[in-house]
Amino acid sequence: MNKIELMEKIKSVREYQNKKLSREDHQLILSLLERPYPLEDDGNVELLFLEDGEQIAELLVGVAGYHGRMIQAPHYLIILSRPDGVGYREAGFIGQSLILRLMNEGIGTCWVSVDSSDAVKEKLQLESEKEVVALIALGYPREDKFFEKLFSGIKASKSPYSEKGYADFSFEYEKDTRQPAGPVVYTDNWGKVADSDELVRRGYLEIYHYMKYAPSWGNRRPWRFILQDNDIVMAVQQMGEVEQLADHLEGGIAMYFFQLAMHGMGFRGHWLMDAQADVPSNYILAGKYVSE
Ligand SMILES: Cc1cc2nc3c(=O)[nH]c(=O)nc-3n(C[C@H](O)[C@H](O)[C@H](O)COP(=O)(O)O)c2cc1C
Repeated sequence: MNKIELMEKIKSVREYQNKKLSREDHQLILSLLERPYPLEDDGNVELLFLEDGEQIAELLVGVAGYHGRMIQAPHYLIILSRPDGVGYREAGFIGQSLILRLMNEGIGTCWVSVDSSDAVKEKLQLESEKEVVALIALGYPREDKFFEKLFSGIKASKSPYSEKGYADFSFEYEKDTRQPAGPVVYTDNWGKVADSDELVRRGYLEIYHYMKYAPSWGNRRPWRFILQDNDIVMAVQQMGEVEQLADHLEGGIAMYFFQLAMHGMGFRGHWLMDAQADVPSNYILAGKYVSE
């Protein structure tokens, strides 16, 4: 399945078979963790494979997962990063690229949030200058023929966190309680809403459609875009009152999705981590996608 098809199928796996990965899949993961990562590698990010999921899940109850509820999985990846916005965005970008790759190999995954890097490091006796950004649970899904059903278009059981499962095509996303009402794409300046005709003309409408599937904390889909001539700036709504590095992690995840959609639709380009635009004070700037 090509990457753009995978984007629409992406689904978190929260229940796993009580079974370790096969030797081949284990090897594959170890090889994917080797550098280079799918970004210009500046050493900001580090990934570790945690073999004994049962023990890790026990240790991390109360300190990882929504409200401290760990997802039980046979293995985990742990993502560490330099403690700044760029590092966290890179971590999201790299983590999301791995998730799609593993999904294509029939390995289920789920992002697992971390509220306190220090608490996780302490529990796992991990010594690193870097911060723990998040975990990724992984293993074979418990649901019978999970990937066959997913890939053949039959819906797998819906997540308790996504209210509508696979959303229908619509330019403006479903408005739910976690999603502030409002448009997703602006032209030139924040507040100047891009109309769908313009996006169709530029060939971009489908890109924003694919963005609906990008994972986000609590499925809040916090990203917004500003078209600046041929470039596109991404802004991410902060999760809380003040900017947190977790906002940047979500930015990085969305940046990977966006780049994949753009490349899949034939628009070559790449992200710059620096972007300039006036955005409301509860948004951070994630980056600027520069067309080639
Ligand atoms: C940064 C981040 C942290 C997340 N943490 C958790 C988590 O701790 N527990 C969980 O069940 N899902 C977690 N998720 C998964 C999201 O809930 C999921 O991507 C989104 O709700 C879409 O749901 P679906 O994949 O089930 O369709 C996290 C996602 C992101 C991006």
